[in-house]
Amino acid sequence: MPTDPTEVTAGIHDLSFATTSLCLTHEELARHTGAPVAKYHHGIGQTSMSIPTEDEDIVTLAADAAAPIVERHGSDRIRTILFATETGIDQSKAAGVYVHSLLGLSPHIRVVELKQACYGATAALQLACALVRTDPAQEVLVLASDIARYDLDSPGEATQGAAAAAMLITAAPGLLELGTPSGLFTRDIMDFWRPNYRTTALVDGKASLDAYLDAVDGAWLDYRARGGLPFEKLRTVCYHQPFTRIAHKAHRRLERAEGLTSTVQAIDEAIAPTTTYNQVIGNSYTASMYLALAALLDSDADLGGDDIGLFSYGSGSVAEFFTGRVGPAYRAHLRADAHRAQIARREPISYAAYRDLHTRALPVDGTPHEVGRRTLGRYRLAGIRDHQRQYRATRP
Ligand code: HMG
Repeated sequence: MPTDPTEVTAGIHDLSFATTSLCLTHEELARHTGAPVAKYHHGIGQTSMSIPTEDEDIVTLAADAAAPIVERHGSDRIRTILFATETGIDQSKAAGVYVHSLLGLSPHIRVVELKQACYGATAALQLACALVRTDPAQEVLVLASDIARYDLDSPGEATQGAAAAAMLITAAPGLLELGTPSGLFTRDIMDFWRPNYRTTALVDGKASLDAYLDAVDGAWLDYRARGGLPFEKLRTVCYHQPFTRIAHKAHRRLERAEGLTSTVQAIDEAIAPTTTYNQVIGNSYTASMYLALAALLDSDADLGGDDIGLFSYGSGSVAEFFTGRVGPAYRAHLRADAHRAQIARREPISYAAYRDLHTRALPVDGTPHEVGRRTLGRYRLAGIRDHQRQYRATRP
């Protein structure tokens, strides 16, 4: 009998993230920039940021994030991998194909890459849910992997970071059942972009903040106009967090749209459980909002049955406000210890070491290049040969 897609649930059954092996603390950064460290800790809400080793990239991070999901659930039902990134490594080949190979998955899977700045993973999630609603027997692996890089000595430098989130999307989601409708908001604006010839982003910092907050209004009003839940029904909201202080500003903006005026402390309390991972990892572009979700789910809060809001923003710009209902037994699906271990194992580096890594670049002329083993992760970029990236597992 044909399935009515509107009757099939879909959402996130498992969520796992990985980050890099190194980090730079904002205390160390402040010693170089001369900025008061309070500007970083309180003004933007960041205490450290993940820095990749030379042998870590979006593929190794995504494979590291996805491997525990495949180990826990097997891969027999995965029919699609959607890889969202704005740190693409090839203009043609999808980065997810390398991950597919590293994880040893069946050839009977479609793999594709998606891009719209930090919003890409939300497009992937919605497409994944649509696929699962059409055929509830299949599962989709959504990967969001990015390395946020700004110029040295620029204001954006303090908002770098790197991570990958992997999500298994199924018709019986243990963690979060996605709700409808979505509120959408698209506007052509040059707030942040990275032309093909650059390895660092260009950004108009102040304009990007205004664009982000205007998109909060735009997406929320569309969400409500389409019959979305009223604000007071939401337990909290996970925002895209290029730096965590922006979640406070965004929450205030949403409240204002509803005619509410909570105290600074009340807003901080509402969003605090969503910021714990991002404040030490930094911006991870496509993965950022999903790290906010992971932090909330991994927190002490009892969320079973609660509706939570999600605000996804990608510069340029596209935004979406949507909701999800936390599963009654969601705690059985968490990976809180593994997530905390990912963060705890990072080695803090000096500003000089960070600067050295930032200025190093892989050859762009096809010269054979070997990369020494440095990562603490399971997969590494071993080098480039014949214009081809060589990936290896670090353990048998
Ligand atoms: P800046 O000029 O270095 O910082 O740039 P500032 O002077 O605006 O200060 C930042 C905050 O610290 C301010 O708070 C200060 O008051 C406060 P606010 O007034 O805004 O509430 N401050 C202090 N607080 C306590 N003690 C002190 C102190 N001093 C100052 N002593 C900026 C900051 C975020 C603009 C910069 O880091 C930047 O350009 N970052 C990159 C762009 C960005 O993250 N934009 C966010 C929206 S766009 C987005 O989210 C998309 C994105 O993820 C990309 C994508 O979609 O792909 C970026």
